[in-house]
Amino acid sequence: MTKQLRNSRIAGLGHYVPEKVIKNADLEKLMDTSDAWIVERTGIHERRYFEPGKDTTANMAANAARVALERAGLEAKDLDMIVFATLSPDYFFPGSGVLLQRELGISDIPCFDIRNQCSGFIYALSLGDQYIKSGMCNNVLVVGSEIQSSGLEFNDRGRSVSVIFGDGAGAAVLTPSDSLEKGILSTHLHAQGEFAEELAAINPSSNLEQRLTHEMIDDGSTYPYMNGSTVFKHAVTRFPEVIMEALNQNNVTPEDLDLIVPHQANLRITQFIQQKMKLPEGKIFSNIQKYGNTTAASVPIAFSEAFEEGRVKEGDLICLAAFGSGFTWASALIRW
Ligand code: COA
Repeated sequence: MTKQLRNSRIAGLGHYVPEKVIKNADLEKLMDTSDAWIVERTGIHERRYFEPGKDTTANMAANAARVALERAGLEAKDLDMIVFATLSPDYFFPGSGVLLQRELGISDIPCFDIRNQCSGFIYALSLGDQYIKSGMCNNVLVVGSEIQSSGLEFNDRGRSVSVIFGDGAGAAVLTPSDSLEKGILSTHLHAQGEFAEELAAINPSSNLEQRLTHEMIDDGSTYPYMNGSTVFKHAVTRFPEVIMEALNQNNVTPEDLDLIVPHQANLRITQFIQQKMKLPEGKIFSNIQKYGNTTAASVPIAFSEAFEEGRVKEGDLICLAAFGSGFTWASALIRW
């Protein structure tokens, strides 16, 4: 039986960040860097690092999910599906989705893992939205959760990557909207595998005779590699492009937007988007100063904080946008 299409809406947002605050001054002790360099190039002042033995990718997601569920007025047993975005899964396999399901004390519902890095949360949101639109699900939990700090290189060789990333988790609970004018109006997803290795952690790799070798550990090839200037150039093009795609599809203009919640890649990238789209500063949300770049967790952490700060109001038009490794990029336009 075909069911009539309907919109999904975000009924609850939540986030969790680990307690341990790492300031730029703490990194100065580990590598040749400075607070001034990090602030000028990235806007980051501090980030959070997980506590081994306490925080895991899945249980941080569960902490964020509990807040989102409570705000949605739902319980974990009401969920029909979990979509989990991460580039730092608990295990090589199985995925973190099933671990989150277990953390929440539920069973049986399907769990997806999404591997689209910084764009992962919007990819996950789009997937959840389609299942609600089609009538196959009513309540979908979408999360982004990352532990970056256990995979970074804290020395001079790794400094251009290590200073940027942080740990944390964010979640959204999707439910059906009672109106086609409200909720998630559209999502747009893109990818360009041509640039896969420009921002990547290649090893351990299944393609090798032995996935993990002592040489890899010694030569640092298990750490993420980022071609910073190439990433920057593509990001400042793709962000405005994918935001405009969302606006054009819905016949609205940048002036109609109440808030853009971009992936927190780098404050300079966010400022570039703001200038290119001629938006007042208050219309684009930034919290990278406090958390660094938390890849798949950054959009839901930022969205949840914007909600807590009262910057997300009934009827507001909000655009989420992301760009990152893959390359992948994506947007979602939401009428709250
Ligand atoms: N502290 C101090 N100096 C550092 C440093 C650090 N943490 N990391 C790199 N440097 C040095 C470099 O070695 C280089 O030195 P050199 O001129 O003697 O060779 C100098 O700073 C400039 O490096 P460069 O890479 O050209 O800097 P940049 O202005 O391009 O800034 C990034 C580097 C990473 C901040 C920037 O490229 C960027 O923001 N890229 C996008 C990254 C991003 O958003 N990634 C996430 C996408 S999802």
